[in-house]
Amino acid sequence: MAGQTMVCVDDFERFAQKHLARNVFDYYRSGANLEETLKDNREAFKRYKIRPRVLRDVSHRNLSTTILGEKIDFPICIAPTAMQKMAHPDGEIATAKAAAKMKTLMCLSSWATCSFEEVAEADPNGLKWFQLYIYKDREATAQLVRRAEKAGYKAIALTVDTPILGRRYADVRNKFQLPPHLSLANFDNEDKHATGVKSTNDSGLAAYVASLIDPSLNWEHVEWLKSITKLPIVVKGILTAEDALEALNHGIAGILVSNHGARQLDGVPATIDVLSEVVQAVNGQVEVYLDGGVRTGTDVLKAIALGAKCVFLGRPALWGLAYNGKEGVQQVLQIIKDEFSLAMALSGCCTVSDIKPSLVSRHSYDWCKL
Ligand SMILES: Cc1cc2nc3c(=O)[nH]c(=O)nc-3n(C[C@H](O)[C@H](O)[C@H](O)COP(=O)(O)O)c2cc1C
Repeated sequence: MAGQTMVCVDDFERFAQKHLARNVFDYYRSGANLEETLKDNREAFKRYKIRPRVLRDVSHRNLSTTILGEKIDFPICIAPTAMQKMAHPDGEIATAKAAAKMKTLMCLSSWATCSFEEVAEADPNGLKWFQLYIYKDREATAQLVRRAEKAGYKAIALTVDTPILGRRYADVRNKFQLPPHLSLANFDNEDKHATGVKSTNDSGLAAYVASLIDPSLNWEHVEWLKSITKLPIVVKGILTAEDALEALNHGIAGILVSNHGARQLDGVPATIDVLSEVVQAVNGQVEVYLDGGVRTGTDVLKAIALGAKCVFLGRPALWGLAYNGKEGVQQVLQIIKDEFSLAMALSGCCTVSDIKPSLVSRHSYDWCKL
């Protein structure tokens, strides 16, 4: 690692590809099926062009914003990704420390390899959400919520796109499972090693989800979750105006427009392409966020212009972890933050609220038709 100059997020991915075990890199990188949506999550950003304004005195810029009322230094947060100790021995603790140091939010996965408590203790002042899957065992699910509350997590991101795990060819080929020296740290019983369940024709994780996660997931579960917690609930995995309106009817606090990093249903649109539809449906009633394919500061600028309050990074944090633990995640955050700041300056924006929908056009060069 020494001597390399890391200039952009893709440099970290190239490093990870070289240095991580093949099955681990494949698990982190892959998308569902033919990976059409995986490619599109990134390609789609290129279809939006920035309409920069000039002569605006951009010598002082303020990137700070709020998320569910909490202040963060810039609108780029860390998405929940499972099993981070495969990338670096410090795992989620390193990610949490990096996010706290950069004064932004980290969302911890249910399938973390460090427990809620360990992550909370790593930096008690760090802003954290907790991502929840609904287990067939409701009491086990409720217990996760109670532990997250007690450990100071500020919101629950309920993942709604995973009643069943998507099919990721690489994981099926590799018969992917969590290495035996690691475990899902938020579970005490035999379930913590359950991704090690041998399956002859599937990934161990898919077998785990099939045996433990509730495939009947529906809006009644959202009502149930509201009945057992006072924490705000953000639904993660909304891609249509219809579901956004349904979510509003169920009193949720925020919507994360996400296709799970293209790991669930291949063939769904890129998240940036459905953001406007969701933002229009929500009409300012709750905050809307986006994840999926965000790799540069201009991606962030475009998502904010199209109505996202903040964006979340999934894989980039894993590549940073693989590169150099906490420092690596911090470096990734710093690079995208700096790129975002530069993009703001060069498009004439001094604050996040200056980033308006008119800053972006999907009809590439034909601005006169706007
Ligand atoms: C390796 C990996 C593991 C993930 N694990 C989870 C998870 O445990 N829970 C969840 O809700 N989303 C999970 N996601 C989805 C991310 O939260 C996020 O939606 C996605 O990674 C964003 O896309 P990006 O990787 O292109 O930034 C995972 C994604 C990846 C790549």
